[in-house]
Formats: sequence, structure tokens, C-alpha cells
Amino acid sequence: MSMIDFAALQAIVFSQKMTSDNTVHGIDHWNQVESNALLLSRHTGADETVIRLFAIFHDSRRYDDGYDPEHGPRAAEFITQCRGNLFVLDDARFDLLYHACYYHTKEHASGDKTIDTCYDADRLDLGRVGIQPNPEKMATLYGQKIVKKSKGVPLSEMREWLNKLTL
Ligand SMILES: [Fe+2]
Repeated sequence: MSMIDFAALQAIVFSQKMTSDNTVHGIDHWNQVESNALLLSRHTGADETVIRLFAIFHDSRRYDDGYDPEHGPRAAEFITQCRGNLFVLDDARFDLLYHACYYHTKEHASGDKTIDTCYDADRLDLGRVGIQPNPEKMATLYGQKIVKKSKGVPLSEMREWLNKLTL
């Protein structure tokens, strides 16, 4: 059981985000990454607390919606500052969250089921920017299965399709 109030935490982190605009990396994306991660975790066995924190923090330190290659490391730094103030997490889980935030745009797969679930949850929402997720670029077997199954689903309907998926 997690003691974290995720809705309250999300509201605080969102209010402190660095971008004034709220477009492709906005709250809809954060929510979709969370639901994708929870879907994946039923098969991957990912740690639920870590994946929900990843959804809230991973894009929270973006300067803009562009490439911004250092937003992952900035997110990792930010969770280090927020730990103990905004949320409490044991060392083992914190290390997973830190790694996932830091490397989420740089690493294909880590070999850890929780980190890899974070990566795939983010990738499954690429449809929002007009990119069809590539099954070969998924880090988890189940992520790969979902992408293969989604073949033919228009990108504009991808979120709706994912949210109805009950595998
Ligand atoms: Fe993201």
C-alpha cells in the first residue's frame, strides 16, 4: 500500500512545471502514461508506486515541447529535491525512479521490469505526436505485444484504444 496522495502530488508538480504551455507534454500525457503503465504492470509486475511517480515527474522539468535532451536528468534532480518534502520513498524504489527519469529518452531498455515499464508507458503515447510506436523499440514483451496488436488503429484513436484494452 502506498501512502502517497498521487492526485495531490500531481497537482503540486504540475503547478511548478517549467513550461507555460500545456501541449504535447501536458497533463493529458502525464495521465496517459500513468494509465499505460498500470496496464503494462499487470503483466510486467512493475512496482506501482514507482510507475505512478514516473508519470508525474518524468516530463515535469521540460523547458519546452522540443527535443530538450536534458529534461530527464533535470527530472532526476527534481525528484531528489522533492523526496521527503512531497513524497516518501525507500531507497530501492527511489533508485528505480531516479534511473527511469534520468534515462527515459536515452536508454532503450534497462533490464529492470519497473524501469522498462516506465519507458514503454511513455512510448505507448507517441501517437499523440504522430509517431507510431515501433514494436522493436519496446523494452517489455507486453509493450511489444500491445504495439503489434494496435496495428491499424489510427494514431488519433490510440489513447482511446489503449484505455479500453483489457488484456
Ligand atoms: Fe513523456
